Amino acid sequence: MFLFRSLTAVAALLIVFLLPTTPADASAPLRVHAASRGKFIGAALATTPLANESQYRTIAATEFSQVTAENAMKWDSTEPSQGQFNFSGADQIVTFATQNNQQVHGHTLVWHSQTPGWVQSLGATAMRSAMQNHISQVVGHYANNATVTSWDVVNEVFDDNGNMRTSFWYNTLGQSYIADAFRAARAADSNARLCINDYNVEGINAKSTAMYNLVSSLRQQGVPVDCVGFQGHLAIQYGFPGQVQQNMQRFADLGVQVRVTELDIRMIMPRDATKDATQATYYRDVVNACIAVTACAGITIWGFTDKYSWVPDTFSGQGAALIYDASYQQKPAYTAVHDALAGGTSTDTTPPTTPGTPAASNITANSATLTWTASTDSGGSGLAGYNVYREQGTTDPQLGQSSTASITLTGLSAATQYQVYVRARDGAGNLSGNSALATFTTTTGGSGGGPCTATGTVQTQWAGGYVVQPVTVTNTGSSAINGWTVTFTLPAGHTLSGSWNATLTSSGQTITAKSLGYNANLAPAASTTFGFQVSRPAGDTATPSGYTCASP
Ligand code: XIL
Repeated sequence: MFLFRSLTAVAALLIVFLLPTTPADASAPLRVHAASRGKFIGAALATTPLANESQYRTIAATEFSQVTAENAMKWDSTEPSQGQFNFSGADQIVTFATQNNQQVHGHTLVWHSQTPGWVQSLGATAMRSAMQNHISQVVGHYANNATVTSWDVVNEVFDDNGNMRTSFWYNTLGQSYIADAFRAARAADSNARLCINDYNVEGINAKSTAMYNLVSSLRQQGVPVDCVGFQGHLAIQYGFPGQVQQNMQRFADLGVQVRVTELDIRMIMPRDATKDATQATYYRDVVNACIAVTACAGITIWGFTDKYSWVPDTFSGQGAALIYDASYQQKPAYTAVHDALAGGTSTDTTPPTTPGTPAASNITANSATLTWTASTDSGGSGLAGYNVYREQGTTDPQLGQSSTASITLTGLSAATQYQVYVRARDGAGNLSGNSALATFTTTTGGSGGGPCTATGTVQTQWAGGYVVQPVTVTNTGSSAINGWTVTFTLPAGHTLSGSWNATLTSSGQTITAKSLGYNANLAPAASTTFGFQVSRPAGDTATPSGYTCASP
């Protein structure tokens, strides 16, 4: 007996010491690594492949710890006609999740889309009670089910500019429907985490600030908003949103949980290795932002295989937004998510080769095109693109990024010498050496040029618009100026939707920005900034160009 007990103890000790010292095995599924970070990793699931394809079921069950119904819990599925509830698709998802020890995030209770016509045509009193009844029945159906832990109570209440979306909800009930929806959800389940969810709120911009202000004010009024969901429908051709981690953190500081609810990162088709590598860095950066913010509970990907994704049906000419290809093969994006969750232990530490010397062409007062010989990458993660820097001594500012071996730099200062170099980067973030320098001098501006310059930086952009912040106005003359006028051109079809720190007027596509009292005076070499926001046709990726500055 004694011998048996000590052998057991020795065996137990051996097991403890033989366990890997790393948090999780490098080849372990995503959910194992996510759990070691205290996060969930989720996927939106569709009922048809879940019922019919074993490969789909196996990956869904093995890799993910959280599940969202892509459509099965929306109003048109759960209450197609008034008072007639149907939970067949929703229950299928919840049962699958329970069997696989996963949590379900309920999506979504109150939305302007996928809501039956009968709801939309109700008058105010009837609409409010229909909303409260729907929430009470749907949330109530799962209130005692431990698998369903959270809900998107309202979805997409803002328009693209951060104003209240003028949906039938808003038009019939005013903004009060939002607080009423949260109160009804809390009444139906006192334990569920209640979220407000939206898109283009991942970085800091006008819309995410509107969301921030709304959540702050709702919570001050005691409305039970527990969580903010950032959908995360990104596109590599629009650039990575600015300040994602800082944005998550400012919401966290309001006392709410945050989460990425619908991550997918699309590209213009056809797919290629360079786009895959860029996409992988976007996935990695979203995961790293969530890991860096304690209040970020996890990340849900909107599907997992390119075989089933809403992207090609919704964004024409775009696709390949997910982490498995259409044949269920893992893409570089999978590796990026895996490695970021596993602790950034990328196996690729080999940088790409150094790019060739850039050659400058098409030099104007404020733009120039650079072209260079491409790099190659042998480390495994693939060539992701290039960063272009200006040689300035201590810190060299980055002038732009390109996924090809060429870039057109815009927003340059007139009559200025530039020395620039290029570095290649791979999917694991390794940077090559610096290319040799290219030197060029921009031409003297037109009649509007001097004694000041203006350069605009696109801070964040999405399908239907972008924010230019800062536009930096610099006195390049040798005496003080009192007043400045910056002009620039908006691409065709773009319209100004907001501005700050200057007075902006438009004439056709030409915008004139004039200084305000407090920022009119600039000593030699002094700078000030202003910013603006623009709406553009969905899918258009153009941004403004041709900034010129004059005084006053
Ligand atoms: C999408 C689904 O993926 C599609 O299958 C459906 O046809 C339309 O809705 N924001 C949301 C999700 O909150 O519910 C949307 O899902 C994608 C955008």
